[in-house]
Amino acid sequence: MYFSPRFRALAAGAAFLASSALAHAQALPNVVILATGGTIAGAGASAINSATYAAAKVGVDKLIAGLPELSKVANVKGEQVFQVASESLTDDNLLTLAKRVSALAKQGDVDGIVITHGTDTLEETAYFLSLTVRTAKPIVVVGSMRPGTALSADGALNLYNAVNVAGSKDAGGKGVLVTMNDEIQSGRDVSKSINIKTEAFKSQWGPLGMIVEGKNYWFRAPVKRHTTASEFDIDNITALPLVEIAYGYEGVTSTAIDALGQSGIKALIHAGTGNGSVANRIVPNLQKVSTAGIPVIRSSRVPDGFVLRNAEQPDDKYDWVVAHDLRPQKARILAMVALTKTKDTRELQRIFWEY
Ligand code: DGL
Repeated sequence: MYFSPRFRALAAGAAFLASSALAHAQALPNVVILATGGTIAGAGASAINSATYAAAKVGVDKLIAGLPELSKVANVKGEQVFQVASESLTDDNLLTLAKRVSALAKQGDVDGIVITHGTDTLEETAYFLSLTVRTAKPIVVVGSMRPGTALSADGALNLYNAVNVAGSKDAGGKGVLVTMNDEIQSGRDVSKSINIKTEAFKSQWGPLGMIVEGKNYWFRAPVKRHTTASEFDIDNITALPLVEIAYGYEGVTSTAIDALGQSGIKALIHAGTGNGSVANRIVPNLQKVSTAGIPVIRSSRVPDGFVLRNAEQPDDKYDWVVAHDLRPQKARILAMVALTKTKDTRELQRIFWEY
C-alpha cells in the first residue's frame, strides 16, 4: 500500500497530537464531581438576579461543560447524586453521599473528589464526610452564593478552585476541605456566617489557606481527628440516630425540650445563650431528658468561642456533655456519628474534645 509523503506527514502529525493529548491527560489528576444541587446549580431570570433565583436547576454535565478551563487542570467526570436545595437534604441523603464518596476514594483511578452543594447546609455535609470517610485523598465541598446566571457569579471560580485543590497532592490528609471565595477552609471549622455575601464562609480559626490562579497557599493544618485518623467509618454506618436542637433565648420555656424529649431523639443539642448557658427554670426539663437516657450536649447560639466545661454550668453535676467550639448544627453532626458507637457521656465528651 503506497502512502504519499503528504499523507505520511499528516498521519505522523496526527499520531503525535494523539500521543501528546494522551500524555497530557495521563499527567492530569482524575477528579470526580458529585453534584447535589444548590445555588451553584441555580438559575435566575436575569443577570441582575443575584439573590432571586431557583436553586438546583443545572445538571452536573452542564456545569462541567460551562467551565472548559477544568480540562486544563484535571480529567473530570461528573455524577448527579441529588438535585436539591441543601436545606432539604436529609440524614439518609448524607449517608448515600458519604458512601459514594468512600467508594470512589477507594478507586485507584480517582485522585480527588469534589462535591457541589447548596451553601445552607454545606458545613454539615463537609463535617460529616470529614468524620466518616477514611481516605487521605482530597475531598472538597463547594458551593456558590450567586447563581451562574448572575453578574459576578462566584460559582465558576469556586468550582475551578475546588477541582484544582481536589487534584492537588498537597491537599491530601488535611480533612475534608471547602473552597469558597478564594479560601481553602477546613470542613470541620467552617460555617456559613453571612447569609447574603460571597464572603459567606468563615471559621473563627481562619482558613487553612488560599488558592489563587490555581495555586494552593497553605498557612495552617487541622489538629482535630478526621478521615484516616477517625474512629468512625461510613462503610460501617447504616443509619444515623435522630438528634435535634433546642434553642436558648430570653424567656425560653420548656415546651420544645419536653416535646423533643418524647420524640424518640437519641441526643439533644442545647444551643444555649452565652457560653452555652441554660435558663435555671428549664434545668429540670433537661434532667428529665438525661434521665430518659438521652445525652444532653451543651452548645452555644453564639457563633464563635468555645463552651467551657464546669464553668458557668455544673456539667459534672448534671452529666452534660459540652460541644467545645462546635456550633449547634455541627455538634448535631458529631453527636449523630458518635452515637453510632456509644451513648456513654464520658465517651461522648472524649469524642467532642478530639473531633
Ligand atoms: N437553597 C440554598 C441551598 O441550596 C441556596 C443557597 C446556596 O446554595 O447558596 O443551600
